[in-house]
Amino acid sequence: MAKDTLTITDNRTGRTYEIPIQHGTIRAMDLRQIRVSDEDFGLMSYDPGFMNTAFCKSQITYIDGERGILLYRGYPIEQLAEKSTYLETAYLLIFGELPTRSQLEDWVYNITHHTIIHENIKKFIDGFHYDAHPMGILVSTVAALSTFYPEAKNIFDPEVRLKQIWRLIAKMPTLAAFAYRHSIGMPYAYPDNDLSYTGNFLNMMFKKTELKYKVNPVLERALDVLFILHADHEQNCSTTAMRVVGSSHADPYVATAAAAAALYGPLHGGANEAVLRMLMEIGSKDRIPAYIERVKRGETRLMGFGHRVYKSYDPRARIIKQIANEVFEVTGRNPLIDIALELERIALEDDYFVQRRLYPNVDFYSGIIYQAMGFPVEMFPVLFAIARTAGWLAQWQELILDTEQRIARPRQIYMGPGRRDYVPLEARG
Ligand code: CMC
Repeated sequence: MAKDTLTITDNRTGRTYEIPIQHGTIRAMDLRQIRVSDEDFGLMSYDPGFMNTAFCKSQITYIDGERGILLYRGYPIEQLAEKSTYLETAYLLIFGELPTRSQLEDWVYNITHHTIIHENIKKFIDGFHYDAHPMGILVSTVAALSTFYPEAKNIFDPEVRLKQIWRLIAKMPTLAAFAYRHSIGMPYAYPDNDLSYTGNFLNMMFKKTELKYKVNPVLERALDVLFILHADHEQNCSTTAMRVVGSSHADPYVATAAAAAALYGPLHGGANEAVLRMLMEIGSKDRIPAYIERVKRGETRLMGFGHRVYKSYDPRARIIKQIANEVFEVTGRNPLIDIALELERIALEDDYFVQRRLYPNVDFYSGIIYQAMGFPVEMFPVLFAIARTAGWLAQWQELILDTEQRIARPRQIYMGPGRRDYVPLEARG
């Protein structure tokens, strides 16, 4: 009769072990009993990059990378992108259910009324060099928020936790916009509580001397949808950073700073910036074949292509491609879209990409839209960080409430020298 177990024979000793299988996994700790002698530490699994290791149980986001499916709390990303708003989606991620009307009103009210940052934070931002990358400013200032809200360290108090969640979702756009204004030498534009989450962000970014910033509803909605698409993506690099730092019971501000730092890298949230730089470097359609050849020779990567989980078209990229046309009707067509479309067409017909199942990911088209909307390339990973904050916080809260979780502390395979005696400087060759 079929059993949900795995039988392992250790050929070093001839012993056999039966290990339970649950949810398609075995517990790595069940391997520890497999030993050749009493002194043996026990068998471990080796998994650089966590290629085949489930780090947690989660009820937040589901991805089927083979079929290109993405669900937040069970709801398809396509439906949320069409019908929801970013703040409603953030609520869904954090609380597990769509809010009722009054829950949504409270939630939006509380986030709207926590957008202002302490005036001293502006002094930190002022201290940065004029050409400081806004992602560096964001990482530093979100960490600095920890010092303004010392109660945040009471992570097991649900009320305290909720307040920090409001604050973080509310203040990330303010920090981001202030970082941008600093880089162009413009006075900071304060939050406007009459506006929506993304409308207010556009206001803080682009307001000039007018008394009231007039938000373009098409751009406001496009940004809201882009934020929905970026809100969570289960155990990616930055979310893992959030969980690892959170597992030491650090407060959510420093954990968010760590997550944002992880997001900054070009293989993760920095990819949208890298895509734009790549498209600008290619410059025209006739130069695409030569660029593809360079990618195939391993000299560079096709940024915005490939994904650890998606081995088919990233469903977010499909939605973003549609939004692009709506945005271009307002802003004018970004000529880089034609290079991107042609690059995608050529790549998807090329054996190198077909065999490795490399498809456009979320970042391939997002930067082109952001650029058309007036965001400089340096702001692209910052936009990703604002949106992903909801997901990081949902994952952080799930971790805090998960009684199975312990401080994250992986093992290693030590490959260095054995014990040896210190050699005095004079005696060294
Ligand atoms: N261009 C060219 N070749 C690629 C690319 C690419 N973008 N991505 C993967 N490959 C090749 C890679 O060289 C390898 O080939 P081979 O088997 O001959 O050695 C094979 O495909 C498997 O790649 P991998 O690096 O082992 O795959 P991974 O799962 O470790 O990496 C990835 C995933 C997203 C880091 C990678 O695909 C990549 O670097 N993509 C470009 C950066 C990018 O767009 N990142 C955004 C990811 S989506 C948003 C986010 O999560 O932030």
